[in-house]
Amino acid sequence: MIGGNLGDYRFREVCQNMETKIVRIRREADAFDEEEEEGLRQAGETIKRGGLVAFPTETVYGLGGDALNPESARKIYAAKGRPSDNPLIVHISRFEDICGIVEYLPETAEIIADAFWPGPLTMILPKSDKVPSDVTGGLNTVAVRFPSHPAAKRLIAYSGGYVAAPSANVSGRPSPTTAEHVVKDMKGRIEMIVDGGKVGIGLESTIIDLTAEVPCILRPGYVTREMLGRVLGKVDTDVTIIRPDSTETPKAPGMKYRHYAPAGALVIVEGEPHRVVDYVNRRIGADRACGEKTGVLVTEELRGQYEADVIKCIGSRSDEEGIARNLFSALREFDEEGVTRIYSESFSSQGLGQAIMNRLLKAAGHQVVRLQTEL
Ligand code: TXA
Ligand code: MG
Repeated sequence: MIGGNLGDYRFREVCQNMETKIVRIRREADAFDEEEEEGLRQAGETIKRGGLVAFPTETVYGLGGDALNPESARKIYAAKGRPSDNPLIVHISRFEDICGIVEYLPETAEIIADAFWPGPLTMILPKSDKVPSDVTGGLNTVAVRFPSHPAAKRLIAYSGGYVAAPSANVSGRPSPTTAEHVVKDMKGRIEMIVDGGKVGIGLESTIIDLTAEVPCILRPGYVTREMLGRVLGKVDTDVTIIRPDSTETPKAPGMKYRHYAPAGALVIVEGEPHRVVDYVNRRIGADRACGEKTGVLVTEELRGQYEADVIKCIGSRSDEEGIARNLFSALREFDEEGVTRIYSESFSSQGLGQAIMNRLLKAAGHQVVRLQTEL
């Protein structure tokens, strides 16, 4: 059952029999043909009328509604089964539109926009009265993102300029990186899906809080701390990202929830490669004896060495971007194949690796086995 681990009452109340129209556009096309343009126009009209439309961005698929309409925000929370204290990101399609939704624009916002917008970066800023509190989960700040995906930009413009969009998955599931993932989670619950093929990045945007004295990363993503440091100088990172076992509450409300989780129990195994392989194969043997269906999430370098029922290779260690792009799909595929025990290799916590490990740790509910190094 989709979202069986949800535990949110609103999810069950939402209409599940709506007709969901699917329109297709070429992957990251720069110019659209007449049919595509018409599809995006209709999608924009749907959002303006208070409906919901899922659409591709360069990071993951978003579930869009009118960011200035509180009723649309409520529909988004219901369709996802998302707790309403978890605020939404407002997407814009022109930098100047930011002025309509923030109280003031710190200098740091202009510096970051110059360097990384349009692109996979979200800024937390003081909100203006124009933004309904349903969108910001009652906070006096607003998350703003200017995506670079051409279809996303077009759709936002057709929708009136401000689109609230969380990732288009049922709450708790891995974010969707293809339209098929969105269909699985959202068909029957929303008016339209814009299918733009597989996304380019595969992990959600980096979130940076610009209301703090020192800009602070609340969620790691494609735009890394190193990249932000180069334009801003000093940048902090939320302690819960650096020390995942910290007992503090993350500053981005959404980061406190278990997330990205496959249905099977996932454990990350850290250590020297041959030890990881030995340990995982031993565990797989024991799991099988108990009737479990086993899976491994691995890299190209070691894939041939595992004895699991299902082996998902997410790319080579030398290509972190490829790993980022494939991670969420692989987690969903384990569900489809009915895997009940999953073991994953671990990744570096530098650069893009930090975002990969952050998502993986959440998917695993922080279950990590650290193997001792041989002395
Ligand atoms: O790449 C992305 O950011 C995708 C695409 C669709 O743009 N969107 C996305 O949205 O990942 P969502 O809702 O899945 O994640 C938004 C995160 C949540 O963790 C939420 O708590 C945090 O942003 N957030 C939103 N507004 C915030 C605010 N005012 N202060 C702190 N965190 C905020
Ligand atoms: Mg999400």
